[in-house]
Amino acid sequence: MERLAILGALHEEIADLLAAMDPGAAVHRIAMRDFHVGTLWGTPCVIALSRIGKVAAAATASIVIREFQVSRVIFTGLAGGLHPDVEVGDVVVAHSLMQHDMDARPLFGQHEIPLLGRVRFESDAELSKRLLDSAGDFVRGRAIEGAARAQARVHGGLIATGDVFVSHAEEALALRARLPDALCVEMEGAAMAQVCYESGIPFAVLRVISDRADHAAKTDFTAFLENVARVYTAGILAPLLKA
Ligand code: ADE
Repeated sequence: MERLAILGALHEEIADLLAAMDPGAAVHRIAMRDFHVGTLWGTPCVIALSRIGKVAAAATASIVIREFQVSRVIFTGLAGGLHPDVEVGDVVVAHSLMQHDMDARPLFGQHEIPLLGRVRFESDAELSKRLLDSAGDFVRGRAIEGAARAQARVHGGLIATGDVFVSHAEEALALRARLPDALCVEMEGAAMAQVCYESGIPFAVLRVISDRADHAAKTDFTAFLENVARVYTAGILAPLLKA
């Protein structure tokens, strides 16, 4: 049986998915995490809260691959916008991910994962395309309160991951200068991606932009988490899983 893993770093990011699972989902507690195994909108799934950061995401991805034999992994949640075109309320689907805080120079190149010989991890093209299409349908006609643009957009491209919540404009500008094609910054995606790559498991990452990674990031992130995160995730994944 093909099983999909859906992971999120915070409860709000997966709450509506857990609530929508068919009754009778089994809960397995492993390594201080709950893994909810059951069916979501007709698809066999395991849903888990990874907690925040690269180690947490990598540990959780390893568990869903080894203990639950998942055939694909989706990581979902919020991110800070980096690219000038990426605004609060937009959706980003990763084409590739990299770890912006990995730096083993002079032993290895900047951002290169040592002994893996790779900087970027490419997401599964088919799964990512389906997420992009579903996100496009979801945001069409949707106005975001307090956003710079009336109409949210959907972007596909590079996501930068690191163990830091970026909350100063100077930090965001420095990241933009170093990684001009990075669309957004978050704290888990590329760690999950590395684990999936090493195990040959296709993956995708879906991120909703909650803030612009500047001084207002904490306030924007908190408001977005409470009000919007869960609606987006469920609204984008439901049509995709039902199809
Ligand atoms: N996730 C959401 N906003 C973020 C930010 N500003 N930095 C890192 N991860 C984030």
